[in-house]
Amino acid sequence: MTSPNFVTVLIVRLRMILDGLAAVYQIPAAILSAKGSGLKAKAQAAFQEPRVQRLALRPVRAFLPNLRVRWKFFTAYPNTGTALVTRHDDVIEVLDRHADFEVVYEPRMRAITGGENFFLGMQDTALYARDVSNMRLAMRRDDVAATVEPLARRLAEKLVAVKAGRIDVPPELSLPVPTAIVTDYFGVTGAPDSDFMEWATLMFRYLFTDVRGESALDCEALDAAAACRSVIDAAIAKRKASGQTKDDVLGRCLVMQAAGLPGMDDLDIRNNLIGLVIGAIPTLSKAAVQALDQLLDRPEEFASAQQAALDGNDALFAAHVFEALRFNPINPLIFRRAASDTKIAAGHFRARKIPKDTMVLAANLSAMFDPMKIEAPEAFRTDRPWSDYILWGYGLHGCFGAYVNRAVLPAILKPLVTRPGLRRAAGEAGQIETGNTQFPKHFVVEWE
Ligand code: HEM
Repeated sequence: MTSPNFVTVLIVRLRMILDGLAAVYQIPAAILSAKGSGLKAKAQAAFQEPRVQRLALRPVRAFLPNLRVRWKFFTAYPNTGTALVTRHDDVIEVLDRHADFEVVYEPRMRAITGGENFFLGMQDTALYARDVSNMRLAMRRDDVAATVEPLARRLAEKLVAVKAGRIDVPPELSLPVPTAIVTDYFGVTGAPDSDFMEWATLMFRYLFTDVRGESALDCEALDAAAACRSVIDAAIAKRKASGQTKDDVLGRCLVMQAAGLPGMDDLDIRNNLIGLVIGAIPTLSKAAVQALDQLLDRPEEFASAQQAALDGNDALFAAHVFEALRFNPINPLIFRRAASDTKIAAGHFRARKIPKDTMVLAANLSAMFDPMKIEAPEAFRTDRPWSDYILWGYGLHGCFGAYVNRAVLPAILKPLVTRPGLRRAAGEAGQIETGNTQFPKHFVVEWE
């Protein structure tokens, strides 16, 4: 939004308050009309819905934008209480002040790698800079246009072309494409694709979505990590033994190793590759499915996306995909822990003290719907500035695969969206099924 005047700001603020008040009445109605027997089951079902999540964030954003409670919402990582940060400027502040609001993942990253940290679990240290720099040399931005997008596009087209008017999107399209990126572009081979999909999803859940630290999931994820480590070790050993020089991510890591670059011995390479495998597979799949689901909920916008794709207007088609994802991003919250006693939004009425070790939930979903920053946030628009989107993090730890995502998500969806009469399958099959894993397992769509 460009320097709005005082009257506009006042109107937007009043509207935010009214919307916040209205939501207080709309939320119970949404809960009562949700599936399930009993209030608890209904509430749980309702809050799974992105529409209800967005509704619930309205009063918080309007009245308690930086809400702090003693309750420990996340128990998978140590903390002393929880703060929910909902306004756009404050979410950006938290993610920008990485020295004050630290990433928490280190202990679980070490469990996954079997010892070492991975750069998403590191603070802004020399080690972080070394590892990210090395991996940026191995996974170059040029590759997105030259290798990754064509790989994803060709595979997606093929996977859709062999289907006779019906596809189960996660197992038959949105998981195979990122898995091919892992095997063909990263160079991590040696296990069936289905193993990579399962391992990566389990490890991702363990690191990022297992908020309560469930021990059953811990065991499964750590077994998956051990299996994945062995496969990566074997892939590295096999490549070295073969003497093959291949210009993929693993091949480039080995070139750097031969040149004596620090942070590139076999174990370092394994640690970095396991992080990329986890980052790539479940995320791209879930994002593709959720964007498609949101588009199918909006017939007019879906038709416009389809027309853009048929016209070959790739930029406009991609804008539809990212706007759809704004309504249901794969991670509505990004979590950090306060490194010392500090304050968020200092100098504003909404300023809030944050004691050391508070788990700070930077609600990027809420930030993308903050009317004080985002123009007509409830409208589906394809002309938004890219800066309106916080779809894959922000700041120091912003997604390493950001440029991959921007190219690959539209590439996965385009062959599907261009099918005439694309629609959800009837009944439950046409709804995203996660099997309580938070990751899409099934989602069937059909066409003529
Ligand atoms: C749509 C798909 C994706 C989404 C939604 C997504 C989301 C995110 C988010 C939210 C973060 C920041 C986490 C935080 O700050 O706590 C992040 C970081 C990261 N992502 Fe992604 N990601 C996606 C795809 C990928 C891909 C394809 C890769 C690998 C090629 C990848 C690798 C990483 C890595 C390594 C980091 C850590 C960056 C750092 O610490 O500097 N992600 N991602």
